[in-house]
Amino acid sequence: LVLVVDFGAQYAQLIARRVREARVYSELVPHTMPIEEMLARNPKAIILSGGPSSVYADGAPGISDEVFTAGVPVFGMCYGFQLMAKGLGGEVSPTGAREYGRTPVRVSAPGTLLSDIPAEHRVWMSHGDSVTAAPAGFDVLASTDVTPVAAFEDLERKLAGVQWHPEVMHSEHGQATLEHFLHDIAGCRQTWTMVNVVDEQVERIKEQVGDGRAICALSGGVDSAVAAALVQRAIGDRLTCVYVDHGMMRKGETAQVRRDFEEVFDALDVVDAEDQFLTALAGVSEPEQKRKIIGHEFIRTFEAAEVRVFGSLSPEERGDTAYLVQGTLYPDVVESGGGAGTSTIKSHHNVGGLPDDLNFELVEPLRTLFKDEVRAVGEQLGLPSTMVWRQPFPGPGLGIRIIGEVTKERLDILREADFIAREELTRAGLDREVWQMPVVLLADVRSVGVQGDGRTYGHPIVLRPVTSEDAMTADWARLPFEVLEKISTRITNEVSEVNRVTLDVTSKPPGTIEWE
Ligand code: XMP
Repeated sequence: LVLVVDFGAQYAQLIARRVREARVYSELVPHTMPIEEMLARNPKAIILSGGPSSVYADGAPGISDEVFTAGVPVFGMCYGFQLMAKGLGGEVSPTGAREYGRTPVRVSAPGTLLSDIPAEHRVWMSHGDSVTAAPAGFDVLASTDVTPVAAFEDLERKLAGVQWHPEVMHSEHGQATLEHFLHDIAGCRQTWTMVNVVDEQVERIKEQVGDGRAICALSGGVDSAVAAALVQRAIGDRLTCVYVDHGMMRKGETAQVRRDFEEVFDALDVVDAEDQFLTALAGVSEPEQKRKIIGHEFIRTFEAAEVRVFGSLSPEERGDTAYLVQGTLYPDVVESGGGAGTSTIKSHHNVGGLPDDLNFELVEPLRTLFKDEVRAVGEQLGLPSTMVWRQPFPGPGLGIRIIGEVTKERLDILREADFIAREELTRAGLDREVWQMPVVLLADVRSVGVQGDGRTYGHPIVLRPVTSEDAMTADWARLPFEVLEKISTRITNEVSEVNRVTLDVTSKPPGTIEWE
């Protein structure tokens, strides 16, 4: 276990992922965790993340200097690097010269940390203060134009650090630098593989559920599917999966989900709840209200399914506890314990965001995993690739992609347009490159057009293709013009209510991925 101490950097989660890419298990902890508690977890190494502030700022987050003397290898990045320098008697000065963005760094003595890395390479910097003198016992490895000490190591005490952010893509050889620390300096063994994860989780589930029964709400997405597949491997047909079709799924989706899931799962309960959801949504166009209604209706439907599944069993068959499987991921866990400063941007309705009084004990086998790891586990379990590589789709479905009231007619229009867009994206071979591409219907907006010889007065749709690593941030995807042209021509020809196709070129932030 490697602990990544979060000093409030946007990048702390990314660091934890990069460590795992180096096949070493890692978890995030807040910097407010007492050092004794960190050490009690017996970490093989500790990484100090970057942070937003100067080590000299009022209220700057810190960590006990004990972290450097406890005999555990420590790696500091950016702010963490400066904390290490300061904590061990080096010098950190506000040189006045800031470095931000891609910066050339010169390796003067590679040591172990930067061995086999080119003497000149570019890394991602973001800092005001600089380390001007390394603490006693450290070898200085690299510098930049304004930072005399940009990397150092003390092999004896197994301490090292860099001024830059090796975890971000823009830092050349960042992963190699991190791996040199983990494997060569800290001596961490490379045991984090998805095969081990599957075995370990299946054992845990067996232990937790014993000979009890479990139910799982499948959304059609990869998380709930992988969670359910793990549970099925552990308890077999004592798992029942429930899939609620709320009428806001994409074209062909429920059939696809049924096909895929029947291949994999023994017991699948498909609930057709279109009328119930659309009736509840009638007349509503405010996004948060839509989300709340959909969440509420989902719970009602699921409760009814629960009664069907468990209600007919004898008390002996049912056991003392009913278990509910959820595909909660590590970022959800981190964020919900994220504490101060994290604000609710949208009330995410994760299928399974169920109330406490349902009287279930939760089974959450993905709680420690990142999305890409979940996909790898899915492949390991042999799930169909349509399931494993399905692009994220929000629980409330197309309901939050219709700007305005949600009606059956509008859903049908959007379903057609979305189907064409997805088909062309797949044809162009861009499914994995593009994180997801919401198609949004501006249902309350009309614009004039001309088609054939006549005037049209139809609705615009918006294409929102994005690239992303984790949906926390995203960039608009630069789709080839030919693909956009194909999508636009086909939609305006084939969906008579749509006479205009527009492209959303906003990154996240400031835009979110979905429009509502
Ligand atoms: P936003 O719009 O917040 O979306 O940038 C980030 C990611 O989350 C998905 N999303 C949801 N997923 N229930 C879900 O299960 C929801 O209510 C929900 N809202 C947004 C969105 O598709 C994107 O992948």
